[in-house]
Amino acid sequence: MSNNLLKGKRGIITGALDSNSIAWKVADQACQQGAKMVLTNAPVAMRMGEIKKLAEATNSEVIPADATSVEDLTTLFQKSQEVLGGKIDFVLHSIGMSPNVRKNISYTELNYEFYHKSLDISAMSLHKMLSVAMKLDALNESASVVALTYIAAQRTYPFYNDMAEAKAMLESIARSFGYHYGKKKRVRINTVSQSPTKTTAGSGIKGFEDFYYYADSISPLGNASAESCADLCVALFSDLTRMVTMQNIYHDGGYSNTGVSTEVMEKFKS
Ligand SMILES: NC(=O)c1ccc[n+]([C@@H]2O[C@H](COP(=O)([O-])OP(=O)(O)OC[C@H]3O[C@@H](n4cnc5c(N)ncnc54)[C@H](O)[C@@H]3O)[C@@H](O)[C@H]2O)c1
Repeated sequence: MSNNLLKGKRGIITGALDSNSIAWKVADQACQQGAKMVLTNAPVAMRMGEIKKLAEATNSEVIPADATSVEDLTTLFQKSQEVLGGKIDFVLHSIGMSPNVRKNISYTELNYEFYHKSLDISAMSLHKMLSVAMKLDALNESASVVALTYIAAQRTYPFYNDMAEAKAMLESIARSFGYHYGKKKRVRINTVSQSPTKTTAGSGIKGFEDFYYYADSISPLGNASAESCADLCVALFSDLTRMVTMQNIYHDGGYSNTGVSTEVMEKFKS
């Protein structure tokens, strides 16, 4: 259903790797709500070619950018304004990757070079994006930036490894930059803390499948889907949420505030 919530708005969507990606659903929903967009991903992700399908479906252009490269991000923001015909109204940061997780290295024996990479790709990239956007004055007044995060930023989930620190840093950057960009141009910066979702990044985590069902049985509403995450992102991009900034918003079916559910208690009945 379209209410044209994003009619006339211009956006940049990062991280749509394939049709399971949360960013894919966000781009799809933003298009249905009347937005014009540029899609971007790391040059290596482009080789898989999937993003072209989304570009066609949403009538968007694709501009490759490694989110750790200030040079690439500068080109991204410059070209996006040219392609879309003006300053940007919304940005989705949907980027996460840990070489330590990929290589099954345990948290207590982290490879520190990889650790740097995890933080650079998954967290510092948000700072780089915002700093580039500010330097170029690429964002419109009251623009909205949303980054996707996970509750392991607040609580320990052993399988989440060094991504826990990356997400804690990401959320902190959203608050700190949210202050500065808010003062300067009323730009809003929020993080959405999403339920476990079956995507490439999600499923790359060992034990993810089991945990997915655990979280689902704890949450009174069940796990939040990628589609409903897209609805929330669109709401945050829209003018209806123009006073919401520097927040971490749990989008998890109630998981974060539930101690235990009767379904889980049943499993431990003596
Ligand atoms: N899937 C989940 O369970 C879950 C839960 C909470 C939060 N998140 C977060 O949602 C976001 C999107 O992940 P997803 O689950 O849709 O998985 P995904 O694998 O589809 O998306 C991750 C994206 O990051 C991109 N990326 C990696 N390195 C990059 C780089 N250097 N430059 C630019 N892009 C790069 C990948 O190409 C990919 O498109 C991530 O931040 C993830 O941590 C996911």
